[in-house]
Amino acid sequence: MRYLSSTGRIEAQKTDCLVTTRPAARALAVRLRVDDYLDHALADFDDKPGKAVLVPLGKNRAIKRVLIVGSNPSHSVADFRKAMNAAATTLKGAAIRDAVLSLDAFAVDGFGAEQKTRVALAILSTVLYRFKAPKRDDDKATTIGRIAVRADGRAASGVRRAIRVAQALDDGMRWARDMANLPPNVCNPTYLARVARAYARANGLRCRVLEEAEMERLGMGAFMSVTRGSDTPGKLIIVEYRGGKRGAKPIAMIGKGITFDTGGISLKPGAAMDEMKFDMCGAASVLGCLRAAVEARLPVNLLAIVAAAENMPSGNASRPGDVVTTLSGQTVEILNTDAEGRLVLCDAITYSERYEPQVVIDVATLTGACVVALGAPASGLFANDDALAKALQDAGDYIGDRAWRMPVWEDYQPALRSNFADMANIGGREAGAITAACFLSRFARKVKWAHLDIAGSAYAGGAAKGASGRPVPLLFQYLLDAA
Ligand code: BES
Ligand code: MN
Ligand code: ZN
Repeated sequence: MRYLSSTGRIEAQKTDCLVTTRPAARALAVRLRVDDYLDHALADFDDKPGKAVLVPLGKNRAIKRVLIVGSNPSHSVADFRKAMNAAATTLKGAAIRDAVLSLDAFAVDGFGAEQKTRVALAILSTVLYRFKAPKRDDDKATTIGRIAVRADGRAASGVRRAIRVAQALDDGMRWARDMANLPPNVCNPTYLARVARAYARANGLRCRVLEEAEMERLGMGAFMSVTRGSDTPGKLIIVEYRGGKRGAKPIAMIGKGITFDTGGISLKPGAAMDEMKFDMCGAASVLGCLRAAVEARLPVNLLAIVAAAENMPSGNASRPGDVVTTLSGQTVEILNTDAEGRLVLCDAITYSERYEPQVVIDVATLTGACVVALGAPASGLFANDDALAKALQDAGDYIGDRAWRMPVWEDYQPALRSNFADMANIGGREAGAITAACFLSRFARKVKWAHLDIAGSAYAGGAAKGASGRPVPLLFQYLLDAA
């Protein structure tokens, strides 16, 4: 999507579709002398947030259609989001190439033009994304490619700033979604490393890829226990963006990049197993956030680390009962080979220590238990630092990509007890998302750390199957707020 700003009066706009409220549309219609027609067209329109209707004005007019969006008597942010969602959904369903948003028609308490633009465009990016699938008729449909936000006077500079940031977010999110939607025979660890390296080279970033031999030598026994079962070698990918002060400690983001999770010897059931190609959504979101930060030229130092591997059953795969030594020196009894995410992440977290990060944020489709607890609306948020947790939660609340904090209390740690190693890689049946976070916390004792369990938020199954691009908006907003 291309986001632009547009100045000038409403009736001077030239567009396939003007998006506005009913009162603003009526004022325009009076000036265009089509108010009788509009009143007639809107006779049955239910002017509430969440409703939207497309009214054609005529092919030969400068404004070919108006999209009337149910307005917002409460002026609440929640209703504004609802209105923008309805607008985006209607735009997606129509054969429209470009649109102009007249956001000044919407009053939102506490929001100026800049905030309205940020929030609206984040919603449009989410809804209007389409994956180009290799289907014969996939590129025939007319799709929207350009959206302008109308702004003038004092609002213009804030809107232009919001548009630049929204464009960066859109590009980062689209990249993440495209990667995650690819089939797992294409998007494997080799592919992720190639893509990250190419991106780094094109943008003058430093990129390092640790190969298996190197990881073996370093003593990353947990990571190696997962990747050994696959014929496709695992990689630890590190991309550095230095947009901040020289010498300022980086923010490290670590993504779970299991490009396919069969469960390994603790094999998953067959139903919907294809969705385990999305088990690299954490990795995709970390790379997507990196791209957004680079494009927005954020003044931050960011370290994007991707733990890329495939979890396969084979003669080399680890067995339930295997004991491995992690990079930290702590030993782990692998009671379930399907709890592989924490095994690749724990070594990646320890590895990140050498960069002396100010904070470490790991992002992972880690547990089915998190899907049960929170569903899609919220990512699970865990942290050993309250300020970091609050910053992440606030960022998500603002940009509409929410997370909800869950405890990492000591009370849960005994669930990981093992007779044969420092810890087991699974807890019991209870509190599965929390015990997974507790496992990771044992590798983050020396650093401010947060963990986002995105198993429920990162993709949808069923008819709407596909990656959501979350939590790129949350992560990117966190960086913006930190900068
Ligand atoms: N990738 C899965 C978690 C997952 C499940 C993500 C459903 C998205 C949807 C993870 O590797 C896994 O298999 N976790 C196990 C852990 C268990 C063995 C302790 C789980 O959640 O069942
Ligand atoms: Mn698994
Ligand atoms: Zn997994």
